[in-house]
Amino acid sequence: MANTQDILSTKSLTRRFGGLTVVNELDICIQPGEIVGLIGPNGAGKTTLFNLLVGLIKPSSGEIYFEGKNLRNFATHERCKMGLVKTFQNVALFSDMSVIENVLTGALQKMSLHQAREFAYENLEKVGLSHIALKSAGDLTFPEKALVELARTLCTCPKVILLDEVMAALNELEMDHILDLIQKLRNTEGLTFVVIEHHMRAIMNLCERIVVINFGKKIAEGTPAFINQHPEVVAAYLGHDS
Ligand SMILES: Nc1ncnc2c1ncn2[C@@H]1O[C@H](COP(=O)(O)OP(=O)(O)OP(=O)(O)O)[C@@H](O)[C@H]1O
Ligand SMILES: [Mg+2]
Repeated sequence: MANTQDILSTKSLTRRFGGLTVVNELDICIQPGEIVGLIGPNGAGKTTLFNLLVGLIKPSSGEIYFEGKNLRNFATHERCKMGLVKTFQNVALFSDMSVIENVLTGALQKMSLHQAREFAYENLEKVGLSHIALKSAGDLTFPEKALVELARTLCTCPKVILLDEVMAALNELEMDHILDLIQKLRNTEGLTFVVIEHHMRAIMNLCERIVVINFGKKIAEGTPAFINQHPEVVAAYLGHDS
């Protein structure tokens, strides 16, 4: 059974690829309005966990609950309609379409083309990019692409957004802009975020709680201050046993 306080949770979630167990008996609980960091070395299973959560791949065993519902029989587009979405680690926009057309694709599942266009402008405004609405997506800089991807995600009317390394390759200023934006979206719209990020300053400043995984298993969980001095975390990141 799901804990009624959690908006999203997993129970013994496991995924194997052949002989390799990539997500291993994971129990994770996310409460509404939290910003939770998910960290771990390359290949730890973070993206695979997100893919399981949104239904892009199926668990080998274990369960996922969203707002108390078992997601087992819900396809990705149905989970998206329920309010559970993820951004992609490698942002994939339609490069021959304009920014606004890219953003409105996120809204089409729920509204007419006319409404979607208005809603897309609203969300583009939220990420501070309404001035480039008509620019071709193929001509965008990397940070602009990341923000357009976020605006497109907002167009799905999400409750929980899973962000997979949206800050990779951004400079400090661009990163601060996204960090502010995420906090603002949580504070003003009550959105819940789970954030995969290798950049420790971003994670430490943004998240109230951090979950650390290594070889698909949770090895630590707690406040940024707790995680920062956790011996197993330090060992996993430094790549040797302490
Ligand atoms: N479809 C697949 N088939 C086989 N192995 C896979 C598949 N997808 C992922 N893996 C393997 O699962 C492991 C975890 O990959 P995953 O992409 O989840 O890691 P990650 O924690 O997101 O890493 P990174 O920080 O580099 O993005 C890796 O060893 C990867 O090669
Ligand atoms: Mg990944």
